[in-house]
Amino acid sequence: MFKILDKKILAKDVIKITIDSPTVAEKAQAGQFVVVVIDEKGERIPLTLADWDRKLGTVTLIFQTVGFTTKRLGALNTGDKIEHLLGPLGHPTELKKLGTVVCIGGGVGVAEVYPVSRAFKEAGNRIIGIIGSRSKELLILEDEMRGICDELFITTDDGTYGRRGLVTDILKELFTVVEKSTHTKYPDLVYCIGPVLMMKAVSRLTKDYAVKTVVSLNPIMVDATGMCGACRCTVGGKTVFGCVDGPDFDGHSIDFDELAKRLKLFKSEEEKKNEEFHT
Ligand SMILES: Cc1cc2nc3c(=O)[nH]c(=O)nc-3n(C[C@H](O)[C@H](O)[C@H](O)COP(=O)(O)OP(=O)(O)OC[C@H]3O[C@@H](n4cnc5c(N)ncnc54)[C@H](O)[C@@H]3O)c2cc1C
Ligand code: FES
Repeated sequence: MFKILDKKILAKDVIKITIDSPTVAEKAQAGQFVVVVIDEKGERIPLTLADWDRKLGTVTLIFQTVGFTTKRLGALNTGDKIEHLLGPLGHPTELKKLGTVVCIGGGVGVAEVYPVSRAFKEAGNRIIGIIGSRSKELLILEDEMRGICDELFITTDDGTYGRRGLVTDILKELFTVVEKSTHTKYPDLVYCIGPVLMMKAVSRLTKDYAVKTVVSLNPIMVDATGMCGACRCTVGGKTVFGCVDGPDFDGHSIDFDELAKRLKLFKSEEEKKNEEFHT
């Protein structure tokens, strides 16, 4: 059993919990995730390791309450226990000193891009952060990102904070500055986590400018051990499994349309289960 040591509401429907788990904390690396099972009858859901503290033996998860299991998890409080926390799973993000890395997060994806941005910074890179949300009250981890980014840009869809627009608007402006300049250069890497449409738009833009791009995919997962095939995606024309081959992949090679379609595969079952939460 894994005890919840702290719980905070970060934004509407976005919750941060800190869990006692020395074994996961000891091995955690940026880009990895865990599978959470609330109780014996619970579903397995993958959540990214948003933070960890090896000395205290704790891990932090930040999640959006979108359906049955995330709502059940969000209803737990400090002192409550989770049956299983499996991980760390997936390949850690490949970290190198590259030069300038643009780290982009959208919505709850900001929680997932934060540990990766920090790790790229620790590896000696200059970090340009671009974080976006639909509205000001949904923006998370601004202070944390500001603490590690050399430059941070914020966008909101409705213009209630930062720049009105999309993260790609800022990225396009950064590229345009380089295009017109003789002494600036394109970033060495763009790293992006967020909704599928956002990762697709970022990858399309960076492909036009030939800027290497890595995205962290979020396919539906069941066993997260490479056995069930639920997280199947197509990358560079080849079938890969998000859980064991990823979650990071080359953004220019992903079939995002297939990923978006597969995320909707169990929509009606999910909606039925979600109703159970409210009854
Ligand atoms: C490697 C990985 C890391 C993830 N990390 C995080 C994280 O740190 N924080 C977080 O909030 N979420 C994260 N997710 C998504 C999270 O696992 C899903 O939101 C969760 O499984 C939904 O379960 P549910 O029972 O609450 O909702 P369900 O009833 O299963 O689904 C509700 C809605 O969410 C959508 N959904 C279901 N599964 C996913 C998914 N895998 N990705 C995106 N949308 C989904 C469904 O299409 C549906 O619209 C991650 C997913 C993966 C694969
Ligand atoms: S979740 Fe089953 S193979 Fe990846």
